Amino acid sequence: MRNKILVTGGAGFIGSNFVLDWMPLERESIVNLDKLTYAGNLQNLALLEGDHRHIFVRGDIGDTDLVAKLLAEHQPRAIVNFAAESHVDRSIHGPAEFIETNIVGIFILLEATRAYWAGLNEDSKKQFRFLHVSTDEVYGSLSPTDPAFTETKQYEPNSPYSASKAASDHLVRAYHHTYGLPVLTTNCSNNYGPYHFPEKLIPLVIHNALAGKPLPIYGDGQQVRDWLYVKDHAAAIRRVLEVGMVGETYNIGGWNEKPNLDVVHTLCAILDELSPRADGKSYAEQVTYVTDRPGHDRRYAIDATKISRDLGWKPAESFETGIRKTVQWYLDNQEWVKNITSGAYKDWVTKQYQGA
Ligand code: NAD
Ligand code: DAU
Repeated sequence: MRNKILVTGGAGFIGSNFVLDWMPLERESIVNLDKLTYAGNLQNLALLEGDHRHIFVRGDIGDTDLVAKLLAEHQPRAIVNFAAESHVDRSIHGPAEFIETNIVGIFILLEATRAYWAGLNEDSKKQFRFLHVSTDEVYGSLSPTDPAFTETKQYEPNSPYSASKAASDHLVRAYHHTYGLPVLTTNCSNNYGPYHFPEKLIPLVIHNALAGKPLPIYGDGQQVRDWLYVKDHAAAIRRVLEVGMVGETYNIGGWNEKPNLDVVHTLCAILDELSPRADGKSYAEQVTYVTDRPGHDRRYAIDATKISRDLGWKPAESFETGIRKTVQWYLDNQEWVKNITSGAYKDWVTKQYQGA
């Protein structure tokens, strides 16, 4: 009886939420392989300290020997791949690591998985799943009147990040088509919630607001994203893993399209209520327009009809409930934010926001 799954990138934002939610809900143990890049943080998993069902291994999905050894040793029933370089702005400043992890790393992970899977008995082979976590950004940018992305939308990635994710999606697809590897792919919209690294819009704005710093809006702030509470994403992944059809892709989204400026004003209004500024003014006074992101995608929107119709998944949180929970979490976990401000992170912030 196989009683483990392998999760990669489980110390990052979405991966750690997935692991934390999995443990009390499921019987299987988790082997968590994470390189602990600047984005990986073991403090995200502090609640699991002493839990023998969570086995953390620091390492790279691109390390052939390590991945093969872990698969042979733990004999997982499934692999859920979150490991990636995930920040668009970083991919613009330096794409190399995105190619290394999101393309070469996935290739190595797939090769090791293929060898492991080929050696399983027929029953285990049938039950095995490789679930690849991807993004809506592979589909490109929408005009205000375009229909939302469906699973059949042509790939048109525009940033080095989304191009590298598109390449990984294609490799996963090819391993199913060519070798029969039982894969599942999910393409999700923008997540938000606990443990979100404060380089991304929502946690950055909360952090900067409380620190009395500018709230940087790229361009005119009218770019639209479709926001999903991270725990809804974790639930969707569990559902796809459980009953998703092998070889299929599933779009996951929150039906919550919002222009960035609206998101920032919502955050300011909640902060004004929960943690007002000492001078009585609104945090909205800190909004600052800065140079736009090169090649900035104007709009993403996910049509999540397929996963709802075929697998019965729907988000539990609305944007209003999820964003309030998120602000409260950051207010309650200021120590977590403080601990993240490592040297590397500070260097990045200086490079990205100089002059703002
Ligand atoms: P993140 O940057 O917070 O975490 C990535 C994790 O992967 C980190 O813990 C990091 O240490 C680890 N990692 C990086 N390179 C690795 C390697 N070579 N080997 C092993 N571990 C490595 O990212 P996230 O926001 O949690 O995103 C997780 C996945 O979900 C990514 O694949 C991303 O493309 C996808 N995704 C993210 C969002 C979002 O809104 N954040 C939306 C849709 C899809
Ligand atoms: O759509 C899914 C994607 O969402 C994931 O695949 C990515 O891993 C994830 O990082 C996220 O990408 P975005 O580029 O959409 O997220 P980010 O938080 O970086 O930016 C959200 C929007 O806010 C985007 O339009 C850029 C804008 N922005 C961002 C930052 C960091 C600003 O206006 N100012 C900022 O300082």
